[in-house]
Amino acid sequence: MIGAGAIGGVVARALRDGTVPGATLSGVVDPAGPADLPVVSLDELLSTSDLVVEAAGQRALAEVGPQVLAAGRDLLVVSVGALADDALLAKLLSAGPGELHLSTGAIGGLDLLRAAARMAPLSRVTIETTKLAANLVQPWMPADQAERLRTTAEPVELMRGPAREVTAAFPKSANVAASVALAAGDWDVVEAAVIADPAAELTSHVITAEGPAGSYRFEIRNRPSPRTPTSSEVVPHAVLGAIAALAEPRVVFR
Ligand SMILES: NC(=O)c1ccc[n+]([C@@H]2O[C@H](COP(=O)([O-])OP(=O)(O)OC[C@H]3O[C@@H](n4cnc5c(N)ncnc54)[C@H](O)[C@@H]3O)[C@@H](O)[C@H]2O)c1
Repeated sequence: MIGAGAIGGVVARALRDGTVPGATLSGVVDPAGPADLPVVSLDELLSTSDLVVEAAGQRALAEVGPQVLAAGRDLLVVSVGALADDALLAKLLSAGPGELHLSTGAIGGLDLLRAAARMAPLSRVTIETTKLAANLVQPWMPADQAERLRTTAEPVELMRGPAREVTAAFPKSANVAASVALAAGDWDVVEAAVIADPAAELTSHVITAEGPAGSYRFEIRNRPSPRTPTSSEVVPHAVLGAIAALAEPRVVFR
């Protein structure tokens, strides 16, 4: 594991406790050094792992992802939002021999979007994300806007536009929009929106897609992680499902 916070910590402990047949935890790289997990250096991690799971953030992925793949280790990426940067994606794709895998993370339906886009390009894709208002405050926001967000009594649409622009403005909400754009195979067809709702107990993502293959609508409502409320509690379990499928493929949806 690289990163053992809300997502990586749950994944690492489940692997340590032997809950995924065929997989064991070789170590954790995290400057926060969680006391109950075997913290190792990146070099040690690379010499003892077949698969490296990144759950550390966009910057960490850019810094160490190419090195992991170049060392011949497979890499499962959780910070998918980083791949809005085409240059980073190209670098990771050419860094092998290790293979690049993306976690489905907080959302589903990516397989069907990918199939529909493979049949014929999608004509319109939207993803509307609604989160608890206080969790959407960004460092670039002027103080009065941040304060309005913390105290609003009504839902507020903060941004709507090309998915790439929205992911840049809301990096911690970027992963799902990036996953949809990568499944659709086209960033330019995807419109994203971020809505702040003071009453949103659950984080919701409404994804729609239109194209010659059909018309799709997925609505996902996830409980936020108590530790890092910008992430959803289900995400580590999506990661564990991906590790299980790689470790011991049986009947697997791909
Ligand atoms: N794909 C998805 O659907 C999805 C959903 C939610 C979150 N995410 C992304 O997953 C990532 C992790 O989220 P989280 O909620 O676990 O965050 P978190 O802040 O709870 O944990 C991140 C951990 O990474 C560690 N870290 C930071 N930089 C590091 C580095 N260079 N090397 C090693 N460790 C480092 C931190 O010390 C921390 O313990 C974020 O990028 C988040 O945006 C993806």
